[in-house]
Amino acid sequence: SFSVVIAGGGSTYTPEIILMLLANLDRLPLCCIKLYDNDGERQGLLAPAVKILIEERDPSIEFVATTDPEIAYTDVDFCLAHIRVGKLPMRELDEKIPLKYGVVGQETCGPGGLAYGLRSIPGVIENIDYMEKYSPNCWMLNYSNPAAIVAEACRRLRPNSRVINICDMPIGLEDSFARILGFQSRKQLDYRYFGLNHFGWYTSVKDPEGNELLPKLVGHELKYGNTMPGESMDDYTDHTWYDTALKVKDIVSLDPSMAPNSYLQYYLFPDDMVAHSDPHYTRANMVMDGREKRVFGECARIAEAGTAAGTTLKIGIHAEFIVDLATALAFNTHERMLLIVPNNGAIENFDPEAMVEIPCVVGKDGYEPLSIGKIPTFQKGLMYEQVCVEKLVADAYEQHSYLKMLQAMTLSKTVPSANVAKKILDELIVANEGYWPEL
Ligand code: G6P
Repeated sequence: SFSVVIAGGGSTYTPEIILMLLANLDRLPLCCIKLYDNDGERQGLLAPAVKILIEERDPSIEFVATTDPEIAYTDVDFCLAHIRVGKLPMRELDEKIPLKYGVVGQETCGPGGLAYGLRSIPGVIENIDYMEKYSPNCWMLNYSNPAAIVAEACRRLRPNSRVINICDMPIGLEDSFARILGFQSRKQLDYRYFGLNHFGWYTSVKDPEGNELLPKLVGHELKYGNTMPGESMDDYTDHTWYDTALKVKDIVSLDPSMAPNSYLQYYLFPDDMVAHSDPHYTRANMVMDGREKRVFGECARIAEAGTAAGTTLKIGIHAEFIVDLATALAFNTHERMLLIVPNNGAIENFDPEAMVEIPCVVGKDGYEPLSIGKIPTFQKGLMYEQVCVEKLVADAYEQHSYLKMLQAMTLSKTVPSANVAKKILDELIVANEGYWPEL
């Protein structure tokens, strides 16, 4: 059996990931679960409840919560990394500063995503280095955001490390596709996809007999986006996801031969997204007032009661991809998964040094990307602009360069002019003091 450490133990997502691991012990047997966070106080709000969840499911599993990297990373097989450098208060600034200037305010797309990227690179690299020092054979399954910039930093700065960059967004989309097409599970369908993280397109969705269902899917999306006929906002506990699912209608109309990743809304319709945002109450506020209060409150209740009986915490179904990936590595399952990997010729007419999100076959030696072939001009143009933005942020980090960061902001499709880019950047520099390298 295996030992795992969750880096970013204090995340609001941690308890549901724990429940997901505990629900999958038959596939991925565990002898030890560790939580690691550099903010012991925050992690301490969750740890007592996590301990109870584990004990009640399987008392033989050792549980450790620590702020000491040596304890965290010694003798582990998998590190599940979902760190958030600067936590939710910094996310709030990433969202609100661009919105002040009428620009998209989002945690991974637009200037806020670039700011978050520059903050995250050192944190992710630090965790990779701990892992290599204390458990050189460990795999890091990294879904820390912003995944595209983080992945580019891994490619450049730690090219030989056992890090696999993966995102849950495609899983969420594939769940919607299965629902639209009348299948029980996304796993019954076979997909072809290409793009960057939070920036890609499905080119094929096949049923188990090999029939192509993409035209049917796109036909639905043109009418309803990824919502179901007759559905309204009230059917969604999270209204942001309803808006996003609906917006797919507009995105797909730009190229009805593919099913797009819904995050393209921020790049293709930034004006609509800004018009729809409240610059004084953003997603970070919703998460702090909603999920954070709910999860921390429920964890406090469990700790107080001494039992998790009747808990309202839910299994992170989406997070099952983490078990799929760990199982593929541990047991050589050769499962096909979308990963963020160096292109290296997989997309024939695209930069070989770009980090792209494409299907890969995963086994005990890691991943092997599938060959994608050539992609069309519209998608290639959008992707190349975005990849250069991401590379410029990594340049800014390596060279401590104000100019590279200004170029990144200016090049981003979400930013209308270099004037605006400079104003936003100058404010973000002040906000990120102590996190960013000195530019
Ligand atoms: C999706 C994306 C993640 C992102 C998350 C944000 O799952 O794939 O990259 O972190 O949404 O969710 P939140 O509820 O925190 O806004």
